[in-house]
Amino acid sequence: MNNFIKNKARREIFDLKAYVPGRPIEEVQRELGLSDIIKMASNENALGPSPMAIEALKANLVGVHFYPDGNCFYLKERLSALYGIDASCLLIGNGSDEMLRLIAETFINSGDEVILAQNTFSEYEFTSTVMGAKCIKVKLKDYRHDLEAMLKAVSEKTKIIYICNPNNPTGTIVQGSEIEAFMQQIPRDVLVIFDEAYSEYSDQDTFKSGLEYVKQMRNVIVLKTFSKIYGLAGLRIGYGLTTEEIADAVKRVSEPFNVNSLGQIAALAALDDHRHVENSLQMNSRGRDYFYDALSEMGLQYVPTQSNFILIDVKQDCQEVSKRMQLNGVIIRPCASFGYHTHIRVTIGTEEQNRRFIAALKKVLRGDI
Ligand SMILES: Cc1ncc(COP(=O)(O)O)c(C=O)c1O
Repeated sequence: MNNFIKNKARREIFDLKAYVPGRPIEEVQRELGLSDIIKMASNENALGPSPMAIEALKANLVGVHFYPDGNCFYLKERLSALYGIDASCLLIGNGSDEMLRLIAETFINSGDEVILAQNTFSEYEFTSTVMGAKCIKVKLKDYRHDLEAMLKAVSEKTKIIYICNPNNPTGTIVQGSEIEAFMQQIPRDVLVIFDEAYSEYSDQDTFKSGLEYVKQMRNVIVLKTFSKIYGLAGLRIGYGLTTEEIADAVKRVSEPFNVNSLGQIAALAALDDHRHVENSLQMNSRGRDYFYDALSEMGLQYVPTQSNFILIDVKQDCQEVSKRMQLNGVIIRPCASFGYHTHIRVTIGTEEQNRRFIAALKKVLRGDI
């Protein structure tokens, strides 16, 4: 590293761990010279985008020479009706990744503490570390957030607590009763982020959204995204539900045109495409049952999931398994970066993809490739 970078760059950047994304299909194709590759690594919707969103996009391509509506008026209006909160309580971002960054920029001072689970989505640590926070990581209990332990980790320096519900990469949820007990005890001056990127997939009655606490005017932000069940990851559109005061504060650090016009249009159409959502949910629960049966038959342990992915203990080095799965044309996510060295995370796909994954995994674990 040259002296200019060493002496002049902010010291926080040297504490950052690089984000490890699911590898793009084209990259693996180039590297391995394979043409037939499926990606089950980033929890995208294997059914693709909503057909209604595709139609809306086609019809609106001619308008891309205009800047987008920086206020996302129509999308906010629609989401406000959906959730029963005022449009002024909504934040829309370039994916929920951007929301996380904006939240960190708004609230974190160097030396603050944030609390997150030990094995969870990496962006909480990344965006907090950029701003100079100390990340206190709390172990999961049976692959689930341990809210009691997170509560015990609170100090006078705690600024934010992140709760990923359902959790990535374990697919588990925290029970509504646990959230209620936690919210009763958490100091009012700690901001609680409920990241509910996968909440649409949860079919348990005990799932509880943080929205209830937003409506009680608590210091809470609920994050949602169009990247998962709505199948619009490439358009980068996510949003936050919070109080008007918190929304006003976060908007101060936002770029004026952070949400592109096609993303806004596609998101609006996708919200109306109930059939696509229903088909996606059905495909997911069928695929989940298929995985449970096939993995049990193979004698592999997995974590029952409330999401569109599943965490599997392959009892071998996950990087090696992942490399060999790629040679079979299946991209999955090794979970070493999440702290699980013998686990892989696999997106539940179409029936054909799921079968192909299981066939490839059998081969790889037998050592055939
Ligand atoms: C828990 C969680 N939150 C947020 C995101 C980011 O989603 P977006 O595409 O909206 O930035 C992801 C993406 O994988 C995620 O797993």
